[in-house]
Amino acid sequence: MNGEWIDDDHEQKVDLRLWSKLLQYTLRYRRTAVSFTLVAFGLAASDLCFPLITGKLISDVEEHGADVDLWSYGILFGICSLALCASVWGFISCAGKIRTHVSHDIRRDAFEKLQQLSFSFYDTKPVGWLMARLTSDCNRLSNILAWGVMDFIWGTTLMTGIAGVMLVYNWKMALAVLSVVPLLFLVSVFFRKRILRASRWVRKSNSKITAVYNEGITGVRTSKVFVRADENLRDFDRVADELRHHSVHNAVLSAVYLPIVLTIGSIAIALALSTGGHQVLVAGLVVGEVVMFMYYAQLFFAPIQDMSAWFAELQMAQASAERVLSLVEAVPEIRDNDNVQRRLSEHGSDGFPDEINTIEFRDVGFRYREGPQIIERFNLSIRSGQQVALVGRTGGGKSTLINLLCRFYEPTEGEILIDGVDYRQRSLHWLQSKLGIVLQQPHLFSGTIADNIRYGDPDADQHAIENAAQMAGAHDFIKKLKNGYQTDVGEGGNQLSLGEKQLISFARAVLKHPQLLVMDEATSSVDTETERQIQNGLQRVLSGRTSFVIAHRLSTIRSADIILVIENGMIVEQGTHMDLLQKRGSYYNLYTEQSMREIVRIDNVIDDSTSD
Ligand SMILES: Nc1ncnc2c1ncn2[C@@H]1O[C@H](COP(=O)(O)OP(=O)(O)O)[C@@H](O)[C@H]1O
Ligand SMILES: [Mg+2]
Repeated sequence: MNGEWIDDDHEQKVDLRLWSKLLQYTLRYRRTAVSFTLVAFGLAASDLCFPLITGKLISDVEEHGADVDLWSYGILFGICSLALCASVWGFISCAGKIRTHVSHDIRRDAFEKLQQLSFSFYDTKPVGWLMARLTSDCNRLSNILAWGVMDFIWGTTLMTGIAGVMLVYNWKMALAVLSVVPLLFLVSVFFRKRILRASRWVRKSNSKITAVYNEGITGVRTSKVFVRADENLRDFDRVADELRHHSVHNAVLSAVYLPIVLTIGSIAIALALSTGGHQVLVAGLVVGEVVMFMYYAQLFFAPIQDMSAWFAELQMAQASAERVLSLVEAVPEIRDNDNVQRRLSEHGSDGFPDEINTIEFRDVGFRYREGPQIIERFNLSIRSGQQVALVGRTGGGKSTLINLLCRFYEPTEGEILIDGVDYRQRSLHWLQSKLGIVLQQPHLFSGTIADNIRYGDPDADQHAIENAAQMAGAHDFIKKLKNGYQTDVGEGGNQLSLGEKQLISFARAVLKHPQLLVMDEATSSVDTETERQIQNGLQRVLSGRTSFVIAHRLSTIRSADIILVIENGMIVEQGTHMDLLQKRGSYYNLYTEQSMREIVRIDNVIDDSTSD
């Protein structure tokens, strides 16, 4: 499933501005960053020492024969080896720490942002996309920001050190070795990029195979019924062939890369040897120096290979960086404006009364982003304590209207006034803390039933929870469960039926004691008897509270103070149940249609039972 979202990247120019922003994540940990720089220097320095000591030893032996003090060389080697061990340990642990911190911080920032972002953000960003940002992109970036940065510091230090030492000792030989460096770097980058791309294709094909397996296994019943086994096998062959192709390509590239790099390295050594050998013969150069140069030439390859790999990865990860930053830096479309933020920070509130007395929709119209007009301009006034019911056919715009009321979206035309003040001038948190919402597809969190109801009020005790459940008509079914209120609901509540989830989410809303209760077809999946129970509870819950109810069964909203009939984004009728019935318009049609269906259903039941 993830595969779809992993590979929508391609090679791009490295944007330094972007990476320097991301580098801030590494620099947050100053102490670790400083110690890792020191460790990288230390590692480079100890790397640098060995050829130097070896060269010196050979020159010494050349000059003094058996009189050389081998012990001091031995001790020197020992010290360097210890320094090398210590710095390798420091290198790995620092990089590991930074990597963990950085990925933790990026994930945390992204998660925090995801909590703040408006619904409109989620309309355009599928869950799979977001998950891929938080997993694969995040891993990739934290690797670059830890290992890549460390390798860079170590590599440049080592290379500068080697070049420096070589130039000081013998600039001619140094230039001979250094002449192959650009070639080596370019060739390495060329291959690394291709290998990276190929391995990404392999990953992509792999996840396609997983998807095909998944479909094949979960859909096996359907496939059998429709005799689709052969087609499925053909589909599988296609993706399996793709995987084979990419894997072979990848293997071939990797196989070619290393010999080429080794050849170029050998050329460098050959150049060092021939220049140096010549100088030994002609200018009396000592052999120790030639050996040292050979060593250094070899030592040069490791950082070049590492850095070329990171450079390629940097180019390929550019898209990941952009996506993660776009998430971390996203600005919620709906948020407190500057005025409100100022008042909140100065006075702790937005400066308006806490209670909601009137709600007025003034010339409110709405469209989602660039889409068509969903709600036509309308006006509506509601006093506190009134029950408003919204009815109409699916797709008419009922949920949208509720989304506007809850400020999940803001009107694109007109304004919504609460006690005469445009709600955009008030705090978002204030409004949403007044709301109790029950949705048709309610979400339960993993945990027990009690935990889920307590979500409405973290301080509630068991008594309050049961009370709320009673009002919501949920108490009876919960009591029948083996573990009662301590029953685990499973991930997303999937161990309960939809109707049961609706009841729990209703109890959760009741527990919050909201001033404004919003129910969007909240009882569509419970049976008629339970719905009647909820109705009774609802009357108690709603008394004195303002409510917006989108009704699934019209019989449940007969007592509403205002019924709005919504068709194609327009309020076509408005009034009480009796008013609207007498009008014999849309509401009357909807109502009689539904009543007829109920009667037909009852007749069928009677027919069925009499024919048994
Ligand atoms: N997030 C969204 N983005 C774009 N269009 C949407 C979105 N949500 C709903 N719509 C469109 O708005 C219209 C009204 O939908 P909705 O308010 O859910 O209707 P109802 O609740 O009356 O069934 C539909 O045509 C639907 O396709
Ligand atoms: Mg709806």
